[in-house]
Amino acid sequence: MLILSIETSCDETSAAVVTDGTSTSLGTRPEVLSNVIASQTEFHKKYGGIVPEIASRKHIEVINLIIKEAMEKATKGFEDINAAAVTCGPGLVGSLLVGVCAAKAIAYSLNIPLIGVNHLEGHIYANFLSPSTPPPFPFICLMVSGGHTMIVEVKDHGKYKILGQTRDDAAGEAFDKVARLLKLGFPGGPIIDKLAKEGNPHAVEFKRPMIEDEFKYDFSFSGIKTAVVNLVHRPSSIVPRIPDIVASFQQAVVDVLVEKTIKAAKNKNINTICLAGGVSANSLLRSQMLKQGEEAGLSVIIPPFEYTTDNAAMIGCAAYYKFINNKFSDLSLKPSAILKL
Ligand code: KG4
Ligand code: ZN
Repeated sequence: MLILSIETSCDETSAAVVTDGTSTSLGTRPEVLSNVIASQTEFHKKYGGIVPEIASRKHIEVINLIIKEAMEKATKGFEDINAAAVTCGPGLVGSLLVGVCAAKAIAYSLNIPLIGVNHLEGHIYANFLSPSTPPPFPFICLMVSGGHTMIVEVKDHGKYKILGQTRDDAAGEAFDKVARLLKLGFPGGPIIDKLAKEGNPHAVEFKRPMIEDEFKYDFSFSGIKTAVVNLVHRPSSIVPRIPDIVASFQQAVVDVLVEKTIKAAKNKNINTICLAGGVSANSLLRSQMLKQGEEAGLSVIIPPFEYTTDNAAMIGCAAYYKFINNKFSDLSLKPSAILKL
């Protein structure tokens, strides 16, 4: 069985081919035959953020080429494809529309099923592409991206309970805003991740917002961002070194994310933690979650690095489980900017 999947929710145009994969003790796990990603970062960075109008135009320019390349890399023809999957939200509506139209055209012309996938669900399913076994249900997933930060209890395929979420900025948004403030470039997450390795994470003791609430899993990151603003507006002689600021900022964010996720797993008596979303590429978050999770007696699964930021393979993976459970969409599928998990 082969699924052609498409992801265009933000500023990456991606297409992938996913097939039935290896069988494991916890059931079969899909296998990625190709995963092609065209990033638009260079077109947005001079504006310091994503310009939605540019994003949708760039998707239109490259979508057919990216699909063609994904098919070629998988060495498959359209006649081999059994379903077309696509991200239908949440995201930028003009960007989503490009992928949804392409997937509908493929499904209609090949007379194969269409599968709409929630982008956040796609991020969660990146964990099923880990080389070991798929995560056992139930598990706790920390979802940290540019637009979302939430702790989700994943009870079964397609069954989610949001335990907590951010009350203001998303974690990735905080990384991007702090990097912009410090004039480090866009997107801020990977830049801060790299620069923080040259800094002292304890140079500035930022408050760890909302860390003390034992049974509450909400987050707030706008306060740390404001603390960085106040720091750089000090007289220049007492402004800490930039690597020290970003290392301390990153440490504060990661401390809160890790502690709250472990608390959620312990309080819910759930033994497995997964990470999802672009911020799960963060090296400190990955190492700290693995270390602290294991110290707490939990099993921690992290998605392979290449499937952390937006990609179509994770959408194909989520679609694979929908396909085998007969969960299809139809040609009335519409993109939604605010689709809920
Ligand atoms: O999941 P994603 O690719 O797109 C959304 O769905 O939002 O996440 C993008 C976010 C951006 O805010 C980016 O700065 C952040 O993920 N990000 C990182 C790292 N790589 C990407 N944040 C921290 N450390 C990283 N290494
Ligand atoms: Zn994403």
